[in-house]
Amino acid sequence: MQTDFLVIGSGIAGLTYALKTAKEFPGRKVTIITKTQADETNTKYAQGGVAGVWDEERDSYHKHIEDTLIAGDGLCNEKVVEIVVKEGPERIKEIIAYGAEFDKDEQGEYSLGKEGGHSENRILHHKDVTGKEMERALLDEMETLPNIELINHCFVLDIITQHHLGYLVTKSTLDITCYGVYVLNLQTQQIEKILARITVLATGGCGQAYRTTTNPRIATGDGIAMVYRAKGKIENMEFIQFHPTALFEPGVSPSFLVTEAVRGDGGILRNKNGEAFMERYDARRDLAPRDIVARAIDNEMKRTGTEHVYLDCRHMDKEKFIHHFPNIYEKCMSIGIDVMKHMIPVAPAAHYSCGGIKTDEWGRTSIKHLYACGECASTGLHGANRLASNSLLEAMVFGHRCFLDSKKEVGTIALEEKIPDWNAAGTTEPSEMILITQSQKELQLIMSDYVGIVRTDMRLERAMKRLDLLFTETEALYRSTKVSPQLCEVRNLITVGYLIVKGAEFRKESRGLHYNTDHLQKSDLLQNIIL
Ligand code: FAD
Ligand code: SIN
Repeated sequence: MQTDFLVIGSGIAGLTYALKTAKEFPGRKVTIITKTQADETNTKYAQGGVAGVWDEERDSYHKHIEDTLIAGDGLCNEKVVEIVVKEGPERIKEIIAYGAEFDKDEQGEYSLGKEGGHSENRILHHKDVTGKEMERALLDEMETLPNIELINHCFVLDIITQHHLGYLVTKSTLDITCYGVYVLNLQTQQIEKILARITVLATGGCGQAYRTTTNPRIATGDGIAMVYRAKGKIENMEFIQFHPTALFEPGVSPSFLVTEAVRGDGGILRNKNGEAFMERYDARRDLAPRDIVARAIDNEMKRTGTEHVYLDCRHMDKEKFIHHFPNIYEKCMSIGIDVMKHMIPVAPAAHYSCGGIKTDEWGRTSIKHLYACGECASTGLHGANRLASNSLLEAMVFGHRCFLDSKKEVGTIALEEKIPDWNAAGTTEPSEMILITQSQKELQLIMSDYVGIVRTDMRLERAMKRLDLLFTETEALYRSTKVSPQLCEVRNLITVGYLIVKGAEFRKESRGLHYNTDHLQKSDLLQNIIL
């Protein structure tokens, strides 16, 4: 198959890019690939909303920039922060024009929520299902564009570079170039190659590397692992964000999120003794940035010997709660928790990858003709910790920026016709699928036990040793058996786990989301760790 623009991923980043490109080039083909169905994305599960300076009387770009920089703990790229904050409102207006609806107050003005680390109310939301609404609007808009081809159930295995033409490609190769991708078509079970002039990775996050995560099954860091294998640059993977308040429901995966907006509206964290403990940790109490709240909860759980703390909403107005958070109200009710009478048991869960595929301010990766946007990218916005609700915003701003840059490039790029077919010689059907499932469970345990919210040098060393063994076993399986999404996802997750541990080992300090009790001080050297 051949296409002009190949987009891997149908979340907010991939769709933003695809819509703009298809509108600009009605005569060219835009192909979107997804590994399950179009709306099964992290985007669909976003709850709290999208941050943006909307009420210019109270809020300002300056304040949103400051809040983002404070959360990022010294490692944000200030130019990128300014770009995202200033261009963000335009992108929000565009998605509103596509039909996304955000809640309004009685005066007909957008009702702006507040979340941790924000100094002002600036979160636009659609009840507690903002992502679902945004994804719907984008997919509806896509339907109006005949030059977009959407291929679901198609698993991208690897990006194609000179390596596949038989050349030696190393980290030092200067002009690594992307010619498209190899995919496993899950309808036909055939491996096909898709050649493209421009390829955009919008493959989302990697929360599935951890046992407890808010991320759906698709979040296995495939794009990050593919770029690493292709010798492209990855950075800041040690900064995995743990959301403080996932519903504590043993055995249920992924964990159901209880949005930070609940604390924005007055919810209070309490430990098992009923104490509102956040005031002991930070002057901003329950609305301190996420890294601080998640660590405080972790500490309270360890101190009191419990597996969760509580979110107390009993004092909140019932009608308002149900109006803003109908999904959470219903979910809690379904498991016997009436939030007006009972406190909600919550615990931190892996939620967001701040690092990822290194890009410049136009979404260009270190590999030619390959762009990255959304959660899989590391644009420089988040630094050491993402400010709540900045992710949907970043995905739209960078989907747009990738479009602006690639539209200038596309006319100059020829398709590379000499790419060989995938070589599956010597592989057989896997005889024990259970081994793949077990490896994924093992990986998740290693990452949760040794590379979680609080790290030490010895834990990281242990994690690396165990990952090494998993890597060796999985590579052997990969070389000898027919590829399947399950096997490839485990392989990708092991790579992502390795990158997280490697980044954490290099960072001899505690900063943002990376907290190592053997290195509690911040280093004077502000640096991103590039792998
Ligand atoms: P995704 O939306 O995750 O899309 C990834 C796409 O890539 C999917 O289509 C998938 O099929 C495809 N894909 C991946 N690998 C492959 C492969 N190998 N082959 C083919 N296709 C592939 N952020 C906010 O700003 N505000 C919020 O309120 C908020 N709430 C959140 C709540 C939850 C529960 C979660 C999990 C996240 C939340 N986030 C929030 C974060 C935000 O939702 C995500 O960072 C963002 O949606 C990511 O969008 P994306 O387009 O980069 O990727
Ligand atoms: C939430 O609603 O609490 C999640 C917001 C985010 O991840 O940005």
